[in-house]
Amino acid sequence: MTKEIIILILFLTILFLTYKINKKKVRNLFYKSKIKQIDISKLDKIFDEKLISKNLKGPKEDTIIKSFIISPQNKIVGMTSDYEAWIISVLSKKSNNIFEFGTCSGKTTYLMALNSNKDAKITSLTLGPDQVKNLSKKNIDNKISFRNILNESVYEKFLFSGTDVENKINVIFEDSTKFDESKYINKFDLIFIDGGHTYSVVKNDTEKSFKMLNKNGIILWHDYVPGKQSAKNVVNYLNEISKEKKILNIRNTSLCVFRNSD
Ligand SMILES: C[S@@+](CC[C@H](N)C(=O)[O-])C[C@H]1O[C@@H](n2cnc3c(N)ncnc32)[C@H](O)[C@@H]1O
Repeated sequence: MTKEIIILILFLTILFLTYKINKKKVRNLFYKSKIKQIDISKLDKIFDEKLISKNLKGPKEDTIIKSFIISPQNKIVGMTSDYEAWIISVLSKKSNNIFEFGTCSGKTTYLMALNSNKDAKITSLTLGPDQVKNLSKKNIDNKISFRNILNESVYEKFLFSGTDVENKINVIFEDSTKFDESKYINKFDLIFIDGGHTYSVVKNDTEKSFKMLNKNGIILWHDYVPGKQSAKNVVNYLNEISKEKKILNIRNTSLCVFRNSD
């Protein structure tokens, strides 16, 4: 009997470790995107690649961006991948008015400022350590996503603080659910939704974004990752509203996109 129990424990441990090591692959196997996927080249012509040879395509001049590396010692969580950061940077080149929900370290804000034209303005809304004291979790909100909001709201200075492009950026420290969007109606060319990942916050940020987006504007959501616990509410909410709005998932990214001209 004891031998059988040991074998069972060993088997379960191996199963658990295999899952931990291959978490992404297992997730991809069981959880599929319910939102239609598109290649980035279908979103905007700017992403068309240059044919270099029979087996190699490369970036055209328009998609060369300014970027930087953040050292791993910083232990910043919830960042975009290199490919996602590149997509946002390229779209920033074509955008004069940009809005971001969720600044965190300011990685994406900085990229948007570096790559947009010199008159572009970027508004980024976020919570600092002082604002999270009064936050409360709604029943509908995922526990892990709520805890992440507290862990991510720790910055008062950002990666772009003190740089040449800081003057393009306006950071607003405010809870987005209290944020009055009425003075920003139809204003923005590009909106990046990457604030709180709880259901109540992502719903609030999305509804406000649809009002704030201009005629040819683009909304991007970060962290559409089916099966990832901390992204559960983002996935559920986007699956729901994609039945009414033409929201697409950009292939090989966790970005979802809505374009106002569609
Ligand atoms: C995932 S991080 C943002 C990462 C950042 N966009 C980037 O690309 O580096 C989430 C941010 O959203 C902010 N946030 C969470 N809930 C919020 C709320 N209700 N109102 C405003 N900001 C919120 C947090 O303070 C945190 O800075």
